[in-house]
Amino acid sequence: MPFTIAIDGPAASGKGTIARALAAHFGFHHLDTGLLYRAVGARGGDPVAAARGLTAADLARDDLRSAEAGQAASRVAAIAEVRAELIVFQRRFARQEPGAVLDGRDIGTVICPGAEVKLYVTASDRVRAARRARELGADADEMLAQLRERDARDAARAVAPMRPAADAVLLDTSDMTIEAAFAVARDTVATRLGRG
Ligand code: DC
Repeated sequence: MPFTIAIDGPAASGKGTIARALAAHFGFHHLDTGLLYRAVGARGGDPVAAARGLTAADLARDDLRSAEAGQAASRVAAIAEVRAELIVFQRRFARQEPGAVLDGRDIGTVICPGAEVKLYVTASDRVRAARRARELGADADEMLAQLRERDARDAARAVAPMRPAADAVLLDTSDMTIEAAFAVARDTVATRLGRG
């Protein structure tokens, strides 16, 4: 039986880094589901058609990491039909042997409600804005305004809003190094795998 790890949380919380590190540590597959929505937003045109026709080449575009691509992703992600088009791919990915780590906003609540481990990774919005500003070489105040707008939209939408699953382990990384946050995540998974 494949082992699924669901990691959700807001932008720049550290969830992507933790997801990648967990996948490398346990030899699991990793899917950054935000990339799917970024690719849909970046294709332009009808977002539902873009989601239906998404290809590997769309996911490999190197302009998907920008703040603009994040905002466009957040907007198309509020469309129920767009989300519906992406569900089968994500669920199939999650069932790969020996296991998979998926990070996003609705993995523990909608995509993989039966995941063996669910983490909700968060951090204060100021800390997240400072991190993202450093990464992108952008202004921290502008990043803060953008993150707040994006978080509000992602949390308030009617379909699959960003929120912790009832059984998620909460991990606030505001005052943690990435190494310390990874150690908590790794120990949580190891315990569940019976290797704790
Ligand atoms: O994780 P990210 O910043 O790359 O995600 C970009 C946007 O995509 C995010 O603001 C909301 C949307 N998203 C989503 O709605 N559901 C997911 N599972 C992942 C991302």
